[in-house]
Order: sequence, then structure tokens, then C-alpha cells
Amino acid sequence: MVAGERQERPPEMAADPLLPQRVACALGDIRIGASLHYQTSVDSTNRLARELGRRGGKDGLVVLAEEQTAGRGRRERRWVSPSAKGIYLSALLRPAASVAEAGPAAQLVAGIAVAETLAIYADRPMMLRWPNDCYLGGRKMAGVLVESEITGGTLDFLVCGIGINVNHEESDFPADLRTRVTSLCMLSGNPQPRLPILVSLLKALEYWDDVWRKHGLSPVIERWLELSPESRGSYVEIQTDRGVIRGLAAGLSPTGGLYVEDEREDRHEITLGELVRVSPYTSEAQRR
Ligand code: BTN
Repeated sequence: MVAGERQERPPEMAADPLLPQRVACALGDIRIGASLHYQTSVDSTNRLARELGRRGGKDGLVVLAEEQTAGRGRRERRWVSPSAKGIYLSALLRPAASVAEAGPAAQLVAGIAVAETLAIYADRPMMLRWPNDCYLGGRKMAGVLVESEITGGTLDFLVCGIGINVNHEESDFPADLRTRVTSLCMLSGNPQPRLPILVSLLKALEYWDDVWRKHGLSPVIERWLELSPESRGSYVEIQTDRGVIRGLAAGLSPTGGLYVEDEREDRHEITLGELVRVSPYTSEAQRR
């Protein structure tokens, strides 16, 4: 290279690459992330983590990528994952828990970890929306996708996928999403270093995963509800496989389902669904 000539770096190096040595140094002695599988590009970290899980990957292994070419969201949606802009990772978890408990528990655990971490860097409270989206000012900043690997009715492992919009700009998103999403950079107007955010996230994930494994789901539910005020007392509409359920959000069940009371005051526990509308509760909202 000629002196003074600017060297073009690959895009993943342009910002702050999440190189495994740097991450390991910053993490110290920790279970989740002690084994780190780093890719500059991958189709989906969830897909790769599942493959590594099937090959015997340990509890706490983390797959981390600079870019995903086929990042997955819930309900077969795509997760926008441009290179070096976000945090895209999947943690392999092997809790000694039943299939019924583990998936919902990991969703709540990961949601809390994301919301607590982002509140530090956004310097304002984040809001969790059931089942596990992370919102600020009505726009989504992060999401969680938990997938379970089950053999003969027994849980082998969980893959807990987390995507955070850190340095995404509006133009990174397809037009139909632009009014519904945000990133830390869009919020502050400045690019944010990803390494400290990643480190805080993995520490928070380990902390809440330990709380669940040692003390069960109730302290997790209690914390989750603090971060999701709309899940108690709002009017909600939830799209489920059995149609739309409307009514008053009434908190979480002991296994992490959302309680909704309809206008006949029948209580439904929703374990799978998408919150499609939420507004302050009035009896009129019920009738609309
Ligand atoms: C959602 O809100 O719909 C869930 C989004 C989850 C996205 C993350 S990014 C890392 C991991 N790998 C994937 O393919 N998806 C998850």
C-alpha cells in the first residue's frame, strides 16, 4: 500500500467488529458466551446454533454474526441484519426443564435481558410487548426468537436468538417497516459501539437465566411485568390460530402465557399469538 493511501476495509471491519478475542476479554468469567462461535456472515445464527447443538454444543455456547443473509423473525418473518450494524446472536441453552416450561421461560428471560441492557444505552426505559418484543416510543428496537429442540417429548436444548437494531439507519429497513422500527443510532443520532452493548447483554442474559434455573419462573415473571406495564390493564387484540381474542390484558400466567379477559369476563390464557393492537382500556374500546 502506498503511504497516505486509505485502505478499504471490508464492511464488517468498518465499524467496531465484534471479534471473539475482544468479546472474550471483555466478558471475563462467564457461562453464556464462554464458547463463542463468530461468523462474519451466516444465513441465520439460530440455524447454525441448532446445528451446533445437535453436534453436542455446550450449554452457554453463543453464535455471533456480523451479518445474517436469512435472519429469521417470529411467524416466518425476515429479520433485517445488515453487516456490522446490529447484534445478531443465538445462545444455546440446556436447562433441566420440561418442554412446556423452557420455551416460554427463555423468551421472558431474554426479553428482560434485552430491555435492561437497552435501557442503559438508550438512557430511557424500554418497554416489553408480549411475548418478547422490545419497544421504545412505539417502535420496535429488538426481538427474540426462541426455538426448542425436542427428542421423544424431552427437551434437548433451546436456541435463544436475539436481534438488536444498534446502528441501523432508516434506509436499512424495507419501506413498509420504516415507521414501525428504530435503532439506538436512529434515537441518538450517533453510531454506538456494539461491544459494550453485547457484553452487557450476555451478562444480563446469564443473570436472568440463573435466576430462572435457581428460583423458578415467578421472579422472572415479576420483573418482566415491571418492564411491560401495558400487559396489565390495557385493551389488547391478539391474533391467535383460533382467531382474534380481544379484551383486558390481565398479566401473565405462572407459565408465562398472557391472560386476557373478554367482555363476558371469561379469562383466556394465550400461549401463542401476536399482539396486533394495544390501547388504554375503556369499556368503549371493547365494543369498537
Ligand atoms: C422477532 O421479533 O420476530 C424475533 C427476531 C429474532 C431475530 C434474531 S437475530 C439472531 C437470531 N437469528 C435469527 O435468524 N433470528 C434471531
